[in-house]
Amino acid sequence: AKPIRVALLGCGTVGTQIARLLTEQADDLAARVGARIDLVGIAVRRPNKHREVPAELLTTDAAALVTRDDVDVVVEVIGGIEPTRGWLLDALNAGKSVVTANKALLAEHAGELFEAADRTGADLYFEAAVAGAIPLLRPLRESLAGDRITRVMGIVNGTTNFILSAMDETGAGYSETLDEASRLGYAEADPTADVDGFDAASKAAILASLSFHTRVTAGDVYREGISAVTSADFAAARALDRTIKLLAICERVQTDDGETVAVRVHPAMIPRSHPLAGVSGAFNAVFVEAEAAGQLMFYGQGAGGAPTASAVLGDLVAVARNRTVGGRGPRESAYADLPVRPIAQA
Ligand code: NDP
Ligand code: HSE
Repeated sequence: AKPIRVALLGCGTVGTQIARLLTEQADDLAARVGARIDLVGIAVRRPNKHREVPAELLTTDAAALVTRDDVDVVVEVIGGIEPTRGWLLDALNAGKSVVTANKALLAEHAGELFEAADRTGADLYFEAAVAGAIPLLRPLRESLAGDRITRVMGIVNGTTNFILSAMDETGAGYSETLDEASRLGYAEADPTADVDGFDAASKAAILASLSFHTRVTAGDVYREGISAVTSADFAAARALDRTIKLLAICERVQTDDGETVAVRVHPAMIPRSHPLAGVSGAFNAVFVEAEAAGQLMFYGQGAGGAPTASAVLGDLVAVARNRTVGGRGPRESAYADLPVRPIAQA
């Protein structure tokens, strides 16, 4: 079969690992997919700093790369809403499939991106956007599609969990731990997105949209971050045999006007005996409750280059297999059947 030609947007913490895995596992991936997956271009800001990839692949012109004739799939790991939104719309409108880890963009513009994908028959996958390496969106969208999910709750931001765990376990200070999270590649380019809860709110919006078959955007999510959490709060929690975690909670709720969904992100004191209390460092864990399935728990590395690249490559293999056997990725209709106004309730 003809090779699947990939443009990589971004070669930072995540992109470097994607490029590495695509090279190291080229033969295995080709065998799994039935066609080679070839990297044909990489967009970065500062090409001179990227000796880890072949220089001839590098460009600073992401806009031109995404619509090039020799590109079948665009993998986006630059981040941010603009200009990334325009690049991905251009790619989808040109019939290129897109794999992205960009939760901030999806939490605002999933509808628009899916509409473009629907129009041209392109695929749009984003497993890496929520909870890093943990296979979570596919189970919600596919394995649980026949059930009725009632609640999704957990730790979905690695940076804040890394900070809170360190404050609890070693008494480390907030800002030195944040610096370490950035050094380890867990934090967003602007770590305010992590510590003020924006990143977790974006992920909660995506989780609620998929779980409840509706569309929740980041603005629908009640949000509090961790910047006001102090060592005195941890001392108080410890006295109650509790610890503090930043939780994302998405649930169906009844109101006078009928059923809707409520989505919130805030620090919470939880008993040390609770399974979430033992989730340490940049790990994430998410509980899902569904009427027939009961309670499920998903756990694993929620941030970092290689774990995130694993989820991106899973999506890339799905896109490549769709192309080789004629399948299609998730469609806009995934969001259709609960047309309610979500409430941002604390
Ligand atoms: P980095 O900041 O490490 O990398 C960003 C990359 O984008 C860099 O290679 C940078 O180029 C490139 N870039 C930035 N602006 C432009 C531009 N205008 N044109 C071309 N290239 C540009 O980010 P991460 O790898 O950490 O994250 C990328 C995405 O993945 C984000 O959406 C993030 O939210 C998401 N994500 C990250 C996770 C993580 O653990 N890090 C986990 C899950 C998702 P240069 O290198 O030359 O500066
Ligand atoms: N900054 C994010 C986090 C990256 O810390 O969870 C993973 O989405």
